[in-house]
Amino acid sequence: MTYRVAVLAGDGIGPEVTAAAVRVLRAALPGCSFVEAPVGAAAIASHGVPLPDETLQAARASDAILFGAVGGPGFEGVPPQQRPEAALLALRKTFGLYANVRPARAFAGLEHRSPLRAEVVTGMDCVIVRELTGGLYFGAKAILRDERGEYATETLTYHDFEIERIARFAFDLARTRRSHVTSIDKANVLVSSQLWRRIVIEVARDYPDVTLAHMLVDNAAMQLLRDPRAFDVIVTENMFGDILSDEAAMIAGTIGTAPSASLGAGPNERGFGLYEPIAGTAPDIAGRGIANPSAAILSAALLARFSLGEDDAAWRIERAVADALAAGPRTADLDDHAPVDTDAFTTAVIARLPSPVATEAAPRCGV
Ligand code: IPM
Ligand code: MG
Repeated sequence: MTYRVAVLAGDGIGPEVTAAAVRVLRAALPGCSFVEAPVGAAAIASHGVPLPDETLQAARASDAILFGAVGGPGFEGVPPQQRPEAALLALRKTFGLYANVRPARAFAGLEHRSPLRAEVVTGMDCVIVRELTGGLYFGAKAILRDERGEYATETLTYHDFEIERIARFAFDLARTRRSHVTSIDKANVLVSSQLWRRIVIEVARDYPDVTLAHMLVDNAAMQLLRDPRAFDVIVTENMFGDILSDEAAMIAGTIGTAPSASLGAGPNERGFGLYEPIAGTAPDIAGRGIANPSAAILSAALLARFSLGEDDAAWRIERAVADALAAGPRTADLDDHAPVDTDAFTTAVIARLPSPVATEAAPRCGV
């Protein structure tokens, strides 16, 4: 099979880690071809806008987007729609990528990197399913003035159908895992959360084999710290998911190993998607070739699984990353003594790629 992947490397460490992911994808799936296109602050510099038309065209003509990171200094106070981040939000909306899948796994050998005690974290394996095209991110917003002075307003809107489809996504995904869903909301304060909870309960009736728990978001932030292994699939709205997914990644050991998939179809359907590390641009280390490429490489594995239907390649990449992390040497975020750089770690991952096996034999272990 031949596939076409749009590579939108963007800003900060985006180009470095995306290049690493492309190297691994080339090695694991020789049928992939890659088309690069500008995005974010880099695109503002070259084209005057964060998401040029040619980038959108390249994405439309591809099976999936491999995304790096967007953002940068010098945009403080610039209106949100002119900032580098606007490109990412526009891509999510344009392609209807409503389901954001963010696995948080404690990799063997990294337990000591977690800010929590190793015995609390060992074996942590949860997935945050974050609603990605609704809520505060996309509601009406304005800066206005009244007799008391200037004020800003944003709107948190969810339709029943938006909640229903993300809930179904989470329950379908849970069936491929440990069959437990935790729905996180703020139903004691927000009406949007009350609707959220009601719809999730309705959807749950179609999944009698999956257990469902509800948790208020403040309590969830605490429970994740107290017992991260208690979670399997977490489903939550856009902003809560943004915040909790960074927390979960750090608990697992480092945000440097946290991938994500943004999808417009169900977890068992093959379709277009955008794949990116959740970490962002990491300006403090950008351009030095020392960033941990694991999250980008694991995002490429999710790309192979969800957009290309190449479960075997996905599994091989995930195995290689897990093995390379377990064995070391590792990048500087994980190794204080003798770290290796991005390229050397990537070479180690490629060297550890298991040889291809029949797809049926490949266990689904990444998400
Ligand atoms: C993420 C990021 C983005 C978000 C930013 C860059 C707009 O933090 O993917 O989590 O808030 O969704
Ligand atoms: Mg975020």
